[in-house]
Amino acid sequence: MTDPTSVPLGRFGAYGGRYVPEALVAALEELDEHRRKAMADPAFLGELTELQRSYTGRPSILTSVPRFAAEHCGGAQVVLKREDLNHTGSHKINNVLGQALLTKRMGKTRVIAETGAGQHGVATATAAALMGLDCTVYMGRVDTERQALNVARMRLLGAEVVPVDHGSRTLKDAVNEAFRDWVANVDHTHYVLGTVTGPYPFPEMVRDFHRVIGVEARAQMLDEYGRLPDAVLACVGGGSNAMGIFHRFIDDGDVRLIGLEGGGEGISSGRHASRFSGEATPGVLHGAFTYVLQDDEGQTIESHSVSAGLDYPSVGPEHSYLRDAGRAEYRPITDTQAMEAFRALSRTEGILPAIESAHAVAGAMQLGSELGPEALLLVNLSGRGDKDVHTAAQWFGLLDEDDPIDAEPIGQSPDGAEGEGVQL
Ligand SMILES: Cc1ncc(COP(=O)(O)O)c(C=O)c1O
Repeated sequence: MTDPTSVPLGRFGAYGGRYVPEALVAALEELDEHRRKAMADPAFLGELTELQRSYTGRPSILTSVPRFAAEHCGGAQVVLKREDLNHTGSHKINNVLGQALLTKRMGKTRVIAETGAGQHGVATATAAALMGLDCTVYMGRVDTERQALNVARMRLLGAEVVPVDHGSRTLKDAVNEAFRDWVANVDHTHYVLGTVTGPYPFPEMVRDFHRVIGVEARAQMLDEYGRLPDAVLACVGGGSNAMGIFHRFIDDGDVRLIGLEGGGEGISSGRHASRFSGEATPGVLHGAFTYVLQDDEGQTIESHSVSAGLDYPSVGPEHSYLRDAGRAEYRPITDTQAMEAFRALSRTEGILPAIESAHAVAGAMQLGSELGPEALLLVNLSGRGDKDVHTAAQWFGLLDEDDPIDAEPIGQSPDGAEGEGVQL
């Protein structure tokens, strides 16, 4: 394969580019210049590596899950890359620490972010607290409700959380608001975009900050299992955890790269977030040319997934390239299949996955059954399920009306503000 990043302006084949209002061009150029210098600067790389070690807890471990594999994956050997064990509970912190350090190098004092599942918002609020930056996070109203725990976490960390009431009130609309804020405040604000899409240089930069996942995992597989996996599986919202683990394996032609998308209520229902199952077509969304769920006139079609982090009508341009080149495969996983995988992994291994990550776990259930006991599968467990306990408990009917988890906020903070941290 040709190296797509050698094409000007971060094109991945035909995909990518930089489709933005004039007001942002200078900021994107400044960002590109700083990140190029930083990635070649031993002082920057040393600071980032030390944060990854002593703050995030890298390297993240591999965990073999034999009970789950025997009962649900046709006996194939399944190994999890445990990004859920990172500080803040997901892979998102890898990218955020890099961009927060860059914000300081650019002399900016404020960060903004969009968030769907809340994990990217929590990671950004965390890095802002750590580095003394002001922080505003945009989140669709629907997502503030289904990921209420993470809204409280961000506020506890000192961030302002702004619920977005436009459009479908989910991730796409939060990205729109973040771009609006950035245009107005670009002189002192950096937009910490949370996935591998958006205008150049975001897709390449975010991937490079997550690349550590695959670099570690490949070495760990050789070290602990004596060979590379037959397939690497990861869920794909915008696509950052997947690009992070895929990238180091791209040249290993025998290793299948499999992305699992939010299949929602099934492709035929029209209520899904699958960009690669035949309905999406190439177009521009949020500054990048890539596959987009859109109608004949280029209007974006609302996506749907039980998982807030996968509920997005577009996808990172490098995924579009890998898919068209035949190097990566993508499959939809329905809400029901993902929740069954959530339950299966929880009950056989004592690991509650994020609902996003449960899509990758469901992919391993499918692929393991197809390939059988000889197969060795590496699954990126991108996040932990604490944020999803309420949704999952509701899904499985485990809540009684008077359970405390469902109760109204109680008590007062010492300064008299009523339950501020848990009210949305
Ligand atoms: C735990 C987790 N995994 C995956 C995703 C999807 O994002 P991406 O495709 O960029 O990895 C999210 C998004 O919020 C997430 O919180």
